[in-house]
Amino acid sequence: MSGDTATLHLDGIPPHMLSEVEKHLKPFRLSLEKLQEVSARLRKDMLRGLGKHAHHRAAVKMLPTFVRATPDGTEKGDFLALDLGGTNFRVLHVRVLEEEQRVLKMDSQICAIPQEIMLGTGEKLFDHIAACLAEFLDSQKLRGQTLPLGFTFSFPCEQKEIDKSILIRWTKGFNCSGVEGEDVVRLLKEAIHRRGDYHIGSVAMVNDTVGTMMSCGYRDQSCEIGMIIGTGTNACYMEEMKNVKRVEGEDGRMCINTEWGGFGDDGSLKDVLTEFDEEVDRTSINPGVHTFEKMISGMYLGEIVRLVLLKLTQEKLLFKGCPSEALLSPGSFETKFISEIEEPDTGLENAKKILTKLALDWDLVDARVARLVCDTVSSRSARLCAAALATIANRIRTNRGLDHLKTTVGVDGTVYRKHPNFSDELQAAVRLLAPKCDVTFLISEDGSGKGAAMVTAVAQRLALQSRLLEDSDGEDEEEEEEEKVIVLRTGQAGCRRLCVSGRNKDLSKSVEGKRDEGAGSGREPTNTPAQPTWNTPGAALTREQVSGDRKAGEPGTDEV
Ligand code: BGC
Repeated sequence: MSGDTATLHLDGIPPHMLSEVEKHLKPFRLSLEKLQEVSARLRKDMLRGLGKHAHHRAAVKMLPTFVRATPDGTEKGDFLALDLGGTNFRVLHVRVLEEEQRVLKMDSQICAIPQEIMLGTGEKLFDHIAACLAEFLDSQKLRGQTLPLGFTFSFPCEQKEIDKSILIRWTKGFNCSGVEGEDVVRLLKEAIHRRGDYHIGSVAMVNDTVGTMMSCGYRDQSCEIGMIIGTGTNACYMEEMKNVKRVEGEDGRMCINTEWGGFGDDGSLKDVLTEFDEEVDRTSINPGVHTFEKMISGMYLGEIVRLVLLKLTQEKLLFKGCPSEALLSPGSFETKFISEIEEPDTGLENAKKILTKLALDWDLVDARVARLVCDTVSSRSARLCAAALATIANRIRTNRGLDHLKTTVGVDGTVYRKHPNFSDELQAAVRLLAPKCDVTFLISEDGSGKGAAMVTAVAQRLALQSRLLEDSDGEDEEEEEEEKVIVLRTGQAGCRRLCVSGRNKDLSKSVEGKRDEGAGSGREPTNTPAQPTWNTPGAALTREQVSGDRKAGEPGTDEV
């Protein structure tokens, strides 16, 4: 690929050996043309996911998040945040300081989720979460308080409202029974209720990509994409409301959780998959699901490398043809080994140590071949991610009819953060695949923790405003004299501006929303601090406005 920055360590491998090894590695090397094809396919799948009717059968789910507003700087208070998405679970106490516009992590605690809980019943999982939360509240002396809670739940969920989120399916090694198809907030509340020894306030559900975008959006106004490349992979971005066919309303933008990990689940990536990917999928706990994620994310990269090393051993190209017990055991080659082996200076030495740890009878050429395998697998991951990210950037640019787009991606995840050249390779490939987009990458500072608290803070602000507005709506006629509610048409289809004056002076700023149609409302920021450009005035974390959904297969146009 021209502009190639792939760090392939070919040195020191004899030519005849290299050509034999390359036969097995070739399917991992994706040309620029192939990546462009992948991007074009994802583009189509994204349209399907956004469609009013086609989304039922879309592999890329494109889930509306109902996040339409960012912090306006008036949020404040203490919040709890829960972060469930990998093998650990985190509880945080976060303080939002209005005056300084800062989000402080007061304290946090990590609780391991043992394998038997990851694969047990949903009730056990949520009891475990509720118990960790109780322990944390005690350690923080917060048990007597009823704090609002941001719940980063990093699995594909059909969000119905900000506090109602139905799990579509488990990913990343979780498979707790009785949770798919259920409202995760209800399950959490029930677990807390079963204990009966503490209370929580309102809950806001957040995907980790959204938390990441939100936390970076606070720092960089043009942050409108959130991306995770860690145990799993996914991205969200700000889509034009008029294209989100499943949600009523044409104005402004809404954050869409793409769930790009599911790309290829309908067979659209058959030509890109290698025999090793197929094996990883077959032996996973969720075969046929999250095809794209299984080629990219930390949960699977180590296993792909192990399978390639095993194949090369069976072909007598490595370790004198003798695999060790460890090499034969699934999961023995950890993804972090890839980063260690690819370290520019110490990589080869690390490779030797790791091969020794795996009880393999290696020589120097073996160690070099192992490093080449790691380069190849991680490089494909970076390029596939780049193809997907470029698809999003190109879409935002064309959505807005721009010749050139300048945008920022908030990013997080161990693969992106820890691998020595993953980010460079990804960025170089994005430049090639989205030449008209100038994409800046901003590492998120705890999007799953602080970002979730921020979403909750915004939700709480909007709910409070909405409540005050409703109170003022219900006043007696005499009082209405004093507290005038003026309803203005804004000229935006279906959108009203409600200005409240009189006694509720604190609500004298304007609010836009579709209150009577089940939507929440939001205050138009005045005197607003730095905000992302997608922070459409008055946009809110709304309740669902889903329009007459049809069942899969029913006719309807899904033009976006
Ligand atoms: C989940 C996403 C999540 C991603 C990164 C995927 O497996 O489906 O919801 O954002 O992992 O954590």
